[in-house]
Amino acid sequence: MKMNIIRISEMKDFVGEEVTIKGWLYNKRSSGKIKFLIIRDGSGFVQGVVVKNEVAEDVFELCDKLTQESSITVTGVVRKDDRSPYGYELTISSIKLIQMAFNDYPISLKEHGVDFLLDNRHLWIRTPKQHAILSIRHEVIKAIQEFLNNNGFVRIDSPIITPSTCEGTSDLFQIDYFGENAYLSQTGQLYQEAAAMALGKVYSFGPTFRAEKSKTRRHLNEFWMVEPEMSFVDHYENMEIQEKLVEYIVQSVLENRSKELKELGRDLSKLEKIKTPFPRLTYDEAIEILKKNGYEIEWGNDLGSPDETFLSNQFDKPVFITEYPAKCKAFYMQPKEDRPEVVMCADLLAPEGYGEIIGGSQRIHDYDLLIKRLKEENLPLEMYDWYIDLRKYGSVPHSGFGLGIERTVAWITNTEHVRECIPFPRTLSRIRP
Ligand code: 4AD
Ligand code: MG
Repeated sequence: MKMNIIRISEMKDFVGEEVTIKGWLYNKRSSGKIKFLIIRDGSGFVQGVVVKNEVAEDVFELCDKLTQESSITVTGVVRKDDRSPYGYELTISSIKLIQMAFNDYPISLKEHGVDFLLDNRHLWIRTPKQHAILSIRHEVIKAIQEFLNNNGFVRIDSPIITPSTCEGTSDLFQIDYFGENAYLSQTGQLYQEAAAMALGKVYSFGPTFRAEKSKTRRHLNEFWMVEPEMSFVDHYENMEIQEKLVEYIVQSVLENRSKELKELGRDLSKLEKIKTPFPRLTYDEAIEILKKNGYEIEWGNDLGSPDETFLSNQFDKPVFITEYPAKCKAFYMQPKEDRPEVVMCADLLAPEGYGEIIGGSQRIHDYDLLIKRLKEENLPLEMYDWYIDLRKYGSVPHSGFGLGIERTVAWITNTEHVRECIPFPRTLSRIRP
C-alpha cells in the first residue's frame, strides 16, 4: 500500500485517509484505555488518539514510555474534529520511535519565567505561541518582498561592515578591520541611495546593529530592517507607498496566517481595519495634542515612548507623524521649502502602543545643502565622498524609509516585547543562545 507521508498543515486534504506524520511528542495525557498524544511536526500541532484494543500491544506500551519531545513517526487515519482546537485528529495505528528524548526536558508545560525561557530559547521556539509568532514573522517578510518585487523594486543588499556612521555616532558596534576601525551597519540607507540612482527603485533587507543601551520592550541590539529607496519620489509619495506596504503586510497575514493569529488570541477585527489611507499629523499638531492632554513636551524635543503611545491611541490605524524639527533628525533629510527648521520626514506609529515601525524621509539632493548639513553635524566630509558624488552626477529628488521587522511583528501578533519576535534575540543583557 502507498504510504501518504504528509505534514500536519496538509491534514485537511486527507480526511478519512491513512497518513504518516514525522514529528515530536509535545504532550500526552492518558484516560485509562485511551492515550492522547499531542504531536507537532513544525507545520502545526495535532492530537493523536491511541485506543488500547485497536493497536498492537507494543504500540500502547510505547505511549506510556514516550518522553516529552521524543521524535516519532506516527501512522493513522485523519478525522475532522470541530471540537478540537487543532480542527483534526489522528486515530493512530502505529508509532515508530526515532529517539527517546532524555527525560529532563527543561520546558515543562507549566508556566515558566521569561528569563528561564530566554535561556532556553533554542527549545522555547518549539512551543505553540513561539511557533505562531515565528510563522507570522515569516509571512511578514514574505509579504514585504512580494509587495516590493511586484512593484518594480530591485533588491540590493547593503554591506554590513561599514567605515562610517549614518544615524548617529553613539550607538555603533565597533570592530577591528585589519587594523582599522569599522562598524556594524546601523542602516543600509546610504548605499540604497547610490543604488536608487543606478536602478531607480531598490531595497535592502538585512540585519541592523545598534549598540544602544536601552532596555525597553521596543529595542533590540540586532534587528531586521527593510529599506526601500526611490529616485524621483518625494516625501508625500513616499508615505503613500509606506501605507500601501503596511496594508499589504497586514492583509497577507490575515489571509494566510489566521490560524496562528487565533492561536495568539489576536483580535482580528483590529487588523481588518488596517486599510489605507492612514491618518497624518504634523509634528506641530502632535505637540499641540500632547500639551492639551497634560504631557510636558516642548517644540524641538523628540517624541518619547509615552508620547507616541498617547498619539497612536487616538487612532485605530497606524498614524504618520510628519515634519519633525531638523535638530531631532539625521543630517540627510530634506528641509521644508518655506520652513527650513523642519524636515520632510515621517515616522509611522503602530496602533495599540507598539511605537514607531517606520522611519522615512525625502533626502537632500542639492550638493551645497548636503555639504552644509554634514559640516553642521561635524561629520568628516572625506568619509562621505562617495555619498556626496551622488549629488554631483545627476542628482534627483529621492526618498526612502526603513521598516523594522520585529516591531511590526510585535504589533501584528500583539506581543508585548520585541525579543519574542526574532528567533534569537540580542539585547543588552543577552547574547546566548
Ligand atoms: O528610524 P530608524 O533609525 O531609521 C533609519 O535607520 C533610516 N536610515 C531608515 C531609512 O530611511 N532607510 O529605524 C527604522 C526602523 C524604526 O522605525 C523601527 O521600526 C526599527 O527600524 N528600529 C528598531 N527595531 C528594534 N530595535 C531597535 N533598536 C530599533 N531601532 C530602529
Ligand atoms: Mg526613527
